[in-house]
Order: sequence, then structure tokens, then C-alpha cells
Amino acid sequence: MNELTKVTESTAVEAKKPVLPDAQTVTVVKHWTDRLFSFKCTRPASLRFRSGEFVMIGLMGDPHPETGKQKPLLRAYSIASPSWDEEMEFYSIKVQDGPLTSKLQHIKKGDEIILRPKPVGTLVHDALVPGKRIWFFATGTGFAPFASLLREPETYEKFDEIVITHTCREAGELVYGAELIESLKHDELLNEVIGEGFWKKIKYYPTTTREESPKMGRITDLMRSGEAFKDLGVEPLNPDTDRAMICGNLAFNLELKDLFENEYGLEEGANSKPAHYVVEKAFLD
Ligand code: A2P
Repeated sequence: MNELTKVTESTAVEAKKPVLPDAQTVTVVKHWTDRLFSFKCTRPASLRFRSGEFVMIGLMGDPHPETGKQKPLLRAYSIASPSWDEEMEFYSIKVQDGPLTSKLQHIKKGDEIILRPKPVGTLVHDALVPGKRIWFFATGTGFAPFASLLREPETYEKFDEIVITHTCREAGELVYGAELIESLKHDELLNEVIGEGFWKKIKYYPTTTREESPKMGRITDLMRSGEAFKDLGVEPLNPDTDRAMICGNLAFNLELKDLFENEYGLEEGANSKPAHYVVEKAFLD
């Protein structure tokens, strides 16, 4: 067999493989609870994004029963990795009858996923005016964009204090966030760029609502009663000093928006008109 036949043979094998549009390869998968998992994949060489943004990701859907044609099944996912990272990270819920996550939860290292390289989103520093303290409010997988922003140097360059609140049903659902925040202490880039001990700017406030943990209750109720501010040793949000980003389920987002506007006097911002706070809905399948 000469070199030429070898090349032809391998090309024939390649041609048979179904071609996934915008394919990226899964590099790590970690299951946190029976409802939550995270994974990493390769990053498209040309993809630039701002920490806090989301992209559409997914898999090929089942073949159409008559035509056999397959369509991509895509959902918006916040990028959990920071803008400087070589790989992309995502944090996802598993919904047993969810069209995408019922399949996505079974991905393994080496599998391919679809990642459309068009990042967008409002949870970005550009949508906020300068301030002293930034609040990140999350429920469930709404922690994902903050996993990105907590590893972003700009967060520490722009703010003296970072408060991250995370409300989940059960204690096990807090572990991804808790481990990530703990790992920041050893983050080489942040220690070098911002300075050792930068992580002391972070105040972490995890709460659970349906399982016993050191702090129980919805963050909204804990703010209304004043307990959260007392525990954290900070004043209630004030438009002169405080900025906020919200990412959780719809009811949570709406309740916080109402609190911000009617209780604390904060104004919603956008990329085109930066202001005091921004909101994004966490992905649910
Ligand atoms: P709760 O258990 O009291 O409903 P989910 O898994 O349903 O998305 O909820 C995630 C977390 O968000 C749960 O702890 C849930 O509390 C909490 N939550 C749901 N709605 C609100 C809301 N309007 N304000 C504050 N927290 C909320």
C-alpha cells in the first residue's frame, strides 16, 4: 500500500462521520447532585466574549420519524468560565423529561456538543455604572454567570467589595459555588493581577430553603427582614454605592427587581444604557 491509498482511505472514513455544526469537544464532566452537573469543552479559536455572557449550546435532536432529518436542539447557557480561559465551562440542571438536558446530562469526555459562537447577555460590567460594592444574586444554576464574573479580574478592579448570595433548595446544590469560591484563594491570575488576599473582598452568603443548613430562607425574605444585611455587616443597597446582578428563576428575578426599584431606589441598566442593576433568567429545560 502506498502513501496515496492510505490518505484516500482515511478521507473516506472522515467523510462518513456525521458533521456536527459548530462542534466542540467535551473535556471534563462533573456531576454534583442528581439534579446538577457541570462540564467543560474546547473553545472555538475565534470566540471572544465578556465574562457573564451566554451562548446557545446543545446537541442534535432525534431524527424526524418520516424524513430522518435531524435538527439542532439548542438552549441559552451562561458561560461559567471567565473570558480569559482556554476552555469553556457550563453549569446545568438535569431535567429527566427536558428536551435537551435529558440527553445533555449523559455527555462524556470526548463527546461533541454544538456551541454557537455568538455570545450575548446583560450580566456584564459594561451595563453597570461605577460603584463601591457589587452584589451577585443567584438561585440554583443561576450561579453560572457569577462563576465567570468571580474569576474575572475586572470585578475586583472595579469594586471594593463583592457580595455573592446563592439560594438553593438543598445544601448539596450549593457545593459547586462553594468550591469555586474556595478555589479563588489559589487562583494564580487573580493573585498576580489583583494582589494576594484579593479574595477578602468577597462576602459569600449561601442559603437553603428546603433542607437544614447554617442559613435558611429565601434571600428576598432575609433582605426584607434585614437579617441578611446584619449577617453580612453591610448596609441595605443604595444607588450611590451599590450595583447588582440577578440570575435565577423568574419569580426570584421579579421579586428582587421589585425590591430594588421600590425599596432601594436602584435603576435597571443595559449594555446601551448602563445603570445600577441588571437581570437575566437562569436556564431551565
Ligand atoms: P423555595 O424552596 O422556597 O421555592 P428552583 O429550584 O425552584 O428554581 O428554586 C431555587 C431556589 O430559589 C429555591 O431555594 C427557592 O425557594 C428559591 N426561590 C424561588 N422563588 C423565589 C423567590 N420569588 N424569591 C426568592 N427565592 C425564590
